[in-house]
Amino acid sequence: MLEEIKIKALILAGGYGTRLRPLSCTRPKLLFPVAGKTMLEWILNIFYREDFDEVILAVNHLADILKKRVGNKIDNININYSLEPEPLGTGGPIKKAEDRLKDVDNFLIANGDILTTLNFKRMLESHTKKEAIATVALHEVSDPSRYGVVELDKEIRIKKFVEKPKEKLTSKWINAGIYLMRADVLKYIPSNRKVSLEKEIFPILSEKEKLYGFKLDGPWYDVGNFDTFRKANYDIIKRGPKQKPLLYKNANIEDRAKLKPPIIIRENVKIGNFSIIGPNSVICQNSQIGNKTVIKDSIIFENVTIGESALIEGTIIGGNVEIGDSVKIGRNCIISDYVNIRDNIKISKGVIVHPYKELENDVKNSGHVL
Ligand code: GDD
Ligand code: MG
Repeated sequence: MLEEIKIKALILAGGYGTRLRPLSCTRPKLLFPVAGKTMLEWILNIFYREDFDEVILAVNHLADILKKRVGNKIDNININYSLEPEPLGTGGPIKKAEDRLKDVDNFLIANGDILTTLNFKRMLESHTKKEAIATVALHEVSDPSRYGVVELDKEIRIKKFVEKPKEKLTSKWINAGIYLMRADVLKYIPSNRKVSLEKEIFPILSEKEKLYGFKLDGPWYDVGNFDTFRKANYDIIKRGPKQKPLLYKNANIEDRAKLKPPIIIRENVKIGNFSIIGPNSVICQNSQIGNKTVIKDSIIFENVTIGESALIEGTIIGGNVEIGDSVKIGRNCIISDYVNIRDNIKISKGVIVHPYKELENDVKNSGHVL
């Protein structure tokens, strides 16, 4: 007889995404595209194969934008929202959703900015067998100081959990930001205030209860800052087909445009004649590129329009950006959502243009354009 297991998940999708500003001023982290898929799509990939009944998105900053784009159902997964008027940290949102979570034996919590693969069945097996109150997915890094670090015993029980340790620890195993929790964990989380799961709850659980680890062995990224966001994009693009472009539906590529792999072109993208696109680039949904434009090593978000004879290298271009003819953009620039750049404008390396800015003059020095 098939055992029916009910599973729910909550994704921590609040906070201000300060390390991704100014792109995160108009875009929740879950809607950042990595290699053409939003962070939400990457995280939901973990849940598709399992019968998750419900996924709760714990949100505050930019909740409306997220609701509007995502709605209440993706494929077979019901999406619900738990809205915090004030940010409740990483633990408070779990307590706030208590009524929705407590009717299952175990629930899954995921940070909204991590990208990885997970064998959920194996994690659940380990969690159940060890009778853990919570099981923390773990990843090994060379420098654990920016993360939550765990010290383990032979049974992979977490003896000590230290968030962003100041002191040097011998362990290289870090909290990968995915947890399976037994419903009775809820009694340890105080209500109606901001709570840090990592600083307040995990240390207590490792002392009083059975807190276990589960080692991940695949690639893992926290895309919470621009270095890791770029790295995740380029690594995944490079893992794609080397000989031909990865083209999604309704790509409209003119005959004399040249695509240099590795490159990902999402749905409804249009590319004009004599343009040379790639290598190491991704063009997201509904973006349009004119004739004779060159784009390489770049991440172009959705609904972007780029004119003729433009040159874009090593840059991130946010959503709904409009770029005129003969525009040149140097390496390591960030052009935020809804920016408009007029014809013939030149932008030097390392320029960060804030959302909605209309650029009518060249930008010769690196730094912020507000
Ligand atoms: N709903 C809600 N409310 N979500 C929040 C809030 C809040 O007040 N604050 C942060 N979050 C979400 C963030 O959006 C992110 O998805 C997740 O909680 C973790 O917060 P980060 O700010 O990204 O934390 P971090 O990256 O410094 O550290 C965390 O992740 C590491 C792995 O990437 C910790 O969990 C570390 O222990 C861990 O190693
Ligand atoms: Mg993070």
